[in-house]
Amino acid sequence: MDGFSNPRGSRTGATRESLSISNAVSSGPKKKWSNLMPLLVALVVVAEIAFLGRLDMVKNVALVDSWADLFYRSPPQDDLGLELLEADRMSEADGCEEWLEREDAVVYSRDFEKEPVLVSGAEKEWRSCSVGCQFGFNPGKTADAVFGLTQTTGTASVHRSMESSQYYLENNIAMARRRGYNIVMTTSLSSDVPVGYFSWAEYDIMAPVQPKTEKALAAAFISNCGARNFRLQALEALEKTNIKIDSYGGCHRNRDGRVDKVETLKRYRFSLAFENSNEEDYVTEKFFQSLVAGSVPVVVGAPNIQDFAPSPGSVLHIKELGDVEPVAKTMKYLAENPDAYNQSLRWKYEGPSDSFKALVDMAAVHSSCRLCIHLATMIRQKEEKSPGFKKRPCKCTRGSETVYHLYVRERGRFEMESIFMRSGNVTLGAMESAVLSKFNSLKHVPIWKEERPERIRGGDELKVYKLYPVGLTQREALYNFRFEGDAHLRRYLESNPCAKFEVVFV
Ligand SMILES: *[C@@H]1O[C@H](CO)[C@@H](O)[C@H](O)[C@H]1NC(C)=O
Ligand SMILES: *[C@@H]1O[C@H](CO)[C@@H](O)[C@H](O)[C@H]1NC(C)=O
Repeated sequence: MDGFSNPRGSRTGATRESLSISNAVSSGPKKKWSNLMPLLVALVVVAEIAFLGRLDMVKNVALVDSWADLFYRSPPQDDLGLELLEADRMSEADGCEEWLEREDAVVYSRDFEKEPVLVSGAEKEWRSCSVGCQFGFNPGKTADAVFGLTQTTGTASVHRSMESSQYYLENNIAMARRRGYNIVMTTSLSSDVPVGYFSWAEYDIMAPVQPKTEKALAAAFISNCGARNFRLQALEALEKTNIKIDSYGGCHRNRDGRVDKVETLKRYRFSLAFENSNEEDYVTEKFFQSLVAGSVPVVVGAPNIQDFAPSPGSVLHIKELGDVEPVAKTMKYLAENPDAYNQSLRWKYEGPSDSFKALVDMAAVHSSCRLCIHLATMIRQKEEKSPGFKKRPCKCTRGSETVYHLYVRERGRFEMESIFMRSGNVTLGAMESAVLSKFNSLKHVPIWKEERPERIRGGDELKVYKLYPVGLTQREALYNFRFEGDAHLRRYLESNPCAKFEVVFV
């Protein structure tokens, strides 16, 4: 981190967690089933440890990042028992869908509204959450999770940090797991609950473009020249190409640094967004402030910075020193061709890509709330896998047709809605339209609606951007995962009864 103002400690989550414990509000009288709770939580944690234990930590570093394996590796169920249940109970008069909805209904042993997910070691810093979520200390209750390492049975250890893992080793996900953290929250979109530097609330990303009145092509706010990447060499190499750079930071300073950074950047065509390390998904306020300012970012930093671009062609990337020359050439070309330059800021006028919206929308739900949703989801999943859990049919066969029961929720929310698919039409298109008709019938309002700048909120119609199995990381969900055609979806539904999905609307 450089010394310039950054949103640490604000909505997206604090870096240096205060260990002070807030005055917790007792959540009312104890219910009899609360006695079961510590057991369930213990089961969750045991399951996670067992899951992690299955993996060879060294060879499968990439796998450790996700819960996906938990889902994909679950063996296809023998549904003989279920078919019997079906035949036995199904009433001729009912449609399959009504019947499934009734048969598959579950009353879970823990009602999170009455007994919220309890996380200790940090204070509450969000407004609302779609699952009962309590931060602080609740006497007489075992926390579901704690920030920091704990040996307490039934309590998950959470590691949260917004720093780069090149400076803080345990921010590397595999390293954090090895140290005993069950849940990792870092800038990595492969972490369990990503904490990013970005959100609509923190940055006025759609702020209007101002006239570029400065002679120098680019502004730099680099507080110190030292860094574990080549940013200093890149700066020097850029200067050698005769690109004039106004430097307001401690590194190669040639301008008085006591200015408002974003207001200053607005007057420059380019902004040098040079991070102090080149790490996947490590993208800090330097980049987002450039976007606010409408100053085209020239990036030294995350190798996948284009995943964070508001539209194609809106970000220049110096991946390695050899790129300085061509990037300098592009900068000069754009500076001399106003129409071409304006194209790289087109997203400011026409709105950013769906991919960018879907990324930033993630932060519409505070990371602490997303942690609670993650924990509550694990607790429910564990209960579903426990021996005493109700056997559900999850599909219903009538003559030659089978109806599958699926569950879908919007990313950022906890509760699931039912949708149904018919065996004659198990296609990705049919799944998407089933999701749309369900959420339209509920007059669903996307969770980011209030957060996004008004200009890019769109109308009332819902558009599906991604639909993926619950449990995938955001990296998988937004960038890597997709069903390889209808047959893949069909196999997935066959081997995952009552499959659960998350949908991202844009
Ligand atoms: C840039 O393009 C937008 C439309 O994409 C236009 O409204 C604006 O006037 C242009 N600005 C300049 C300086 O050409
Ligand atoms: C399959 O589903 C799609 C989308 O809902 C629909 O347009 C199509 O008519 C369906 N096909 C059949 C054979 O039911």
